[in-house]
Amino acid sequence: MREPRRPLLPLPLPHLLLVSLLSSSAAAPGAGAGAPPRTGGGGVARSIADMDTKEAVSAKDVSRKEPISGVIALKASMKYFDADFFNDSKLREMEDGAKEFNVPAFRDNRKLVALENGGLHNPSALVFKSSWSDESKISENKSFQYPHTSSVHRPSKDEDIAFMSIIELGELIRTKQVTSRELTAVFLRRLKRYGPIIESVITITDDLAYKQAKEADDLLEQGKYLGPLHGIPYGLKDIIAVPEYKTTWGSRTFENQILDVEASVYKRLKSTGAVLVAKLVTGSLAYDDIWFGGRTRNPWNIEEFSTGSSAGPAASTSAGSETAGSITYPAARCGVTALRTTFGTVARTGVMSISESLDKLGPFCRSAIDCAVVLDAIRGKDAGDPSSREVAIEDPFHVDIRQLTVGYLDSAEMEVVHVLSAKGVKLVPFKLNYTVQSVQSILNITMDVDMLAHFDNWQRERHDDDYEAQDQWPVELRRARLIPAVDYIQAQRARGKLIREVRESFTVDAFIGNVTDWELVCLGNLVGMPVAVVPTGLKSIKNPPEGGTRRRTTVTTGIYAPPDHDHVALALAMAYQSVTDHHKQRPAIDDLGPGDDIQR
Ligand SMILES: *[C@@H]1O[C@H](CO)[C@@H](O)[C@H](O)[C@H]1NC(C)=O
Ligand SMILES: *[C@@H]1O[C@H](CO)[C@@H](O)[C@H](O)[C@H]1NC(C)=O
Ligand SMILES: *[C@@H]1O[C@H](CO)[C@@H](O)[C@H](O)[C@H]1NC(C)=O
Ligand SMILES: *[C@@H]1O[C@H](CO)[C@@H](O)[C@H](O)[C@H]1NC(C)=O
Ligand SMILES: *[C@@H]1O[C@H](CO)[C@@H](O)[C@H](O)[C@H]1NC(C)=O
Repeated sequence: MREPRRPLLPLPLPHLLLVSLLSSSAAAPGAGAGAPPRTGGGGVARSIADMDTKEAVSAKDVSRKEPISGVIALKASMKYFDADFFNDSKLREMEDGAKEFNVPAFRDNRKLVALENGGLHNPSALVFKSSWSDESKISENKSFQYPHTSSVHRPSKDEDIAFMSIIELGELIRTKQVTSRELTAVFLRRLKRYGPIIESVITITDDLAYKQAKEADDLLEQGKYLGPLHGIPYGLKDIIAVPEYKTTWGSRTFENQILDVEASVYKRLKSTGAVLVAKLVTGSLAYDDIWFGGRTRNPWNIEEFSTGSSAGPAASTSAGSETAGSITYPAARCGVTALRTTFGTVARTGVMSISESLDKLGPFCRSAIDCAVVLDAIRGKDAGDPSSREVAIEDPFHVDIRQLTVGYLDSAEMEVVHVLSAKGVKLVPFKLNYTVQSVQSILNITMDVDMLAHFDNWQRERHDDDYEAQDQWPVELRRARLIPAVDYIQAQRARGKLIREVRESFTVDAFIGNVTDWELVCLGNLVGMPVAVVPTGLKSIKNPPEGGTRRRTTVTTGIYAPPDHDHVALALAMAYQSVTDHHKQRPAIDDLGPGDDIQR
């Protein structure tokens, strides 16, 4: 289907003449009337070119007498578009119009923007704005004021160093108790030890890491301290481009791809003095946890998978992304603290795109404080991402939580409710009230069509046959071919209605609820609202081995805030973590206890 059966354009000159005659006189009603000259005329000329031109040209010609297999096929397929109400002459005219106008136009546009996969170039002119505030508040563009940490001492064991917070590590570096090179070595050793067990690492960037660590150390020697991320090692989900290293998108098709692009989020982290140690697993083309090298595991229970698609990031400390659940699911499963940011907060320049109106980047860390530190570094507008903006997020370290009214859904973890209540937050039972019933399918239609637009060539070249999990993207993206543009737009209008209803019923400052409930995942992403993922405990695994095990199941909750209020979600998460220690627990990755014979 890659070659037209007959040359369609350019039309030979005689046809063009015929066109101009026709469009002024005998054009059939509906067949080209009112359409732009080039395309409308072309359509009619095409149907004439199909026929013996000696025959009379009239409106009747669009209903040729012989049974036409094209019309029959089209008629049969219209039911898949829920539009099987056209009679045969209309179908004939539609068939001609599709061949003459649609297909050439599709090809023209694809040639312009779709030859490269992944949506890195040519962002759409339709930009989703997630903000609910009418006045365009200009962000004051100053950084958060981090809490002061004094008397941090370097622990003797690597393991203890690896579990310190960013703020603490930053203090060790600032006070020269540890160099960035030493820290980098600690984290590289851990990545090399645990990466193969958890299957969470795609590329270790040793050389770059030591180079950046040395730069950080040298700067400090010169008396320049860049802030809490100065010299701190971190990882990036492998849909984020870093020059000279592979950016595999987790996919067999792109396993050896090197993009000479510096992603905005990488640029920003680099400028804070942070040290990139690894490109971490993304599920293939940012879907779930299966990638070309294996399937990422949950550090808390290596018999279980991490879910995805920010699988590697969740199993490490880093930046990941979410279109629908790819931050919240793996963070919840792997028991780390993460922030799905307000849509538009973090620029996606240089990041593989699924859906331009849904994709978001966000931090995975050991605590909400660390998430705030990373957010502060990576937020802001970038010219390469038209949806990015200077979101007016306030300083999460200076939110007076006693002024807040926070709702809790039936699915909220009650410990969080009780802890926040004891801290002076006003807690009330809550439910979002909306009438849109099709939340999940709106998400599905939006995401799948957008994704197909970014991987159009990939599907045409049959690379979907090589996809790692045949029941995932391949099925959804084939189905997406059959979603008409008009129904895609209807989905966006339904999404608009949902957003208005959610906004109307969001009568609290934030609410606490299940972070893995699919309806809420879809809703939150369609609205663009932020959520902090907070570990709230550990429980026994379902079928523990007879001799016992140190493997655990994590329990998690979400703190949701309205768009642009990431600081509220973070402030509440920080308040909860300030008096609990669920976020400080350490998984027993390869030391599962004497009774557990799952050793990998
Ligand atoms: C289809 O409908 C149009 C408009 O109602 C009519 O003019 C035409 O004759 C119909 N064609 C057939 C084949 O029924
Ligand atoms: C805002 O911050 C960015 C990045 O740190 C900087 O380049 C820019 O000059 C700042 N703008 C203002 C108005 O301070
Ligand atoms: C929920 O929304 C509907 C429609 O907008 C409205 O009629 C109803 O009063 C609302 N219910 C509550 C409890 O707010
Ligand atoms: C989209 O919808 C289909 C069918 O309902 C479902 O199987 C699939 O999991 C959905 N996609 C995602 C990413 O949830
Ligand atoms: C949260 O939602 C998931 C998925 O629907 C469900 O398995 C889990 O039990 C829910 N948790 C709570 C506390 O309701």
